[in-house]
Amino acid sequence: MSSNHDHHNQGGLIALLGSLAFVFAFLFYIVFLNKGVTLDEKIVAPAAPGAPKFELASVKEPWADSPEVALAGERLYKQNCAACHGAAGDLVGGIPTSRNLVEGKWTQGNGLIAHYKVLQNGIAGTQMVSFKAILKPYERWAVLSWIETITKNKSQDKSEDIVNFAATAD
Ligand code: HEC
Repeated sequence: MSSNHDHHNQGGLIALLGSLAFVFAFLFYIVFLNKGVTLDEKIVAPAAPGAPKFELASVKEPWADSPEVALAGERLYKQNCAACHGAAGDLVGGIPTSRNLVEGKWTQGNGLIAHYKVLQNGIAGTQMVSFKAILKPYERWAVLSWIETITKNKSQDKSEDIVNFAATAD
């Protein structure tokens, strides 16, 4: 019974060394082999295998109707707009004084260009602030492009007018 006393902890020691080895191997993997753990979210849509990765920043006309742009826009919307306008844009879970984007009873003018100006300048005296410093122009177009997919009051702006406006809009 007592013959084991000197070695009674060997099993524990081996287990300890084993787990230390595992932790170091894991850290080595995270730091050197893996690309690392990054917390900032890339705006990429799931791509078909072998298809080039979707990069919103490289889309030439982010206002044009495109499922990838709208998907990226929806993510940006969830992060930046949903708290007030509701996750689905219909004020459910939002604040009642903000605009129901599905109904689309616009007060600042109809269409993508007018909405873009709202994102540039905000609406004075309301909680609708300017998003100029928060979202890049292509991100603002992407958000609006998603709103186009949910609103009943869709943009009638001609694409040439949007192209001309976008060339000068910051
Ligand atoms: C802090 C709350 C808040 C956030 C966040 C917010 N909005 Fe608004 N938004 C409002 C309010 C309030 C109004 C209505 C203002 C008024 O009384 O005219 C409004 C109005 C609008 C309108 C209507 C413009 C019109 O012509 O009637 C649009 C479009 C809009 N917001 C888009 C967005 C988008 C896109 C985002 C995110 C990038 C966003 N909002 C974020 C509060 C917010």
